Amino acid sequence: MLKNDLLLKALRRESVTRPPVWMMRQAGRYLPEYQVLKSKYDFFTRVQTPELACEITLQPIHRVGVDAAIIFSDILVIPQALGMTVLMEEGKGPLLPHTISTQKDIDLLNENAIVEKLHYVFSAISLTKRELNDQVPLIGFAGAPFTLLCYMVEGKGSKGFEKAKAFCFTNPELAKALLSKITRATISYLKEQVRAGADVIQVFDSWSGLLSPDDFDRFAAPYLVEIADALAPLAPVILFPKGSSYALSSLSHQKSVSGIGIDWGVLPETARHEAGKRVALQGNFDPSKLGMSVTEIKKEVTQMIRRFGVQGYIANLGHGILPNIPVDHAKAFVDVVKEYKESN
Ligand code: CP3
Repeated sequence: MLKNDLLLKALRRESVTRPPVWMMRQAGRYLPEYQVLKSKYDFFTRVQTPELACEITLQPIHRVGVDAAIIFSDILVIPQALGMTVLMEEGKGPLLPHTISTQKDIDLLNENAIVEKLHYVFSAISLTKRELNDQVPLIGFAGAPFTLLCYMVEGKGSKGFEKAKAFCFTNPELAKALLSKITRATISYLKEQVRAGADVIQVFDSWSGLLSPDDFDRFAAPYLVEIADALAPLAPVILFPKGSSYALSSLSHQKSVSGIGIDWGVLPETARHEAGKRVALQGNFDPSKLGMSVTEIKKEVTQMIRRFGVQGYIANLGHGILPNIPVDHAKAFVDVVKEYKESN
């Protein structure tokens, strides 16, 4: 039995006295103790060594006291397990030197051994679950098919992912074949994360906002829903289609979706109106605002909670925490949510 099950309660829209709080990318570069491990081990060694991944996952629990842990890993482990080379270049981000452009490239992606190849993630989850000792729930995650397609076709990070989008628009049938293959692999991967101990699943569609609402319905939504439908019988599912608040209403009508993450581009009142009481909302503090003074952070976060309301709400950032944020500012964000009282 979890000692702190606020996140699960919020996802079931059960009554709580305050919202749960966690931060996307909470295990990472803003923490000095993460920097120590980063200076000793390269990125994929940190990801692939269960003891290191577990230690990194627990760091923000100890340091800032969030209400949930998220397993330290990366969304690009799926393209890697499908057979692609993925390099993480210091200061530059991910690089996939052999990109996907043809049916043959897609056929060469091997989805059969996905679960065996990603055993280190499941070991990290079981180990972390043991170490957490039921203090807080553990979130497992994966990248959404469209976001993974972006990296697999573009080969690197990009502001607009023009090459990946052109691939979708000029070869829609190929794009759909690739998205389906990624979806099948992701479903096996996430099911195994739940078997290993993940209590909640989040799917990151970091780049879905580059699509128009109509194209989101073609290249992103069907695959998000397929994943949610497959996982919902096993664990609550949070979808984070960044920049796609136009999809709040339609996604919230999916029975398999428990929570939807939103970025700062949508007003709390609008998000509530669009999503109704069908799902929990998660977000949406602008991560750059953690650079403000602690007093200002506390004021703005209190207001954010008041505007979303305490029920069916998970306090979070609207995207990942930035590396330059002082730890005490991150802690102030968490503390003010924990101190929140309905009468505030
Ligand atoms: O949230 C957590 O604490 C768990 C850890 C986590 C990482 N990546 C570790 C990481 C999670 C949830 C991710 C997800 C991820 N990875 C996403 C989706 C979320 C988002 O931010 O949109 C994306 C798009 C990626 C791909 C990726 N990985 C990029 C673009 C980069 C380089 C840019 C960056 O953010 O640093 C990474 C590297 C990465 N993944 C780092 C960390 C801590 C930084 C590298 C390092 O510390 O050595």
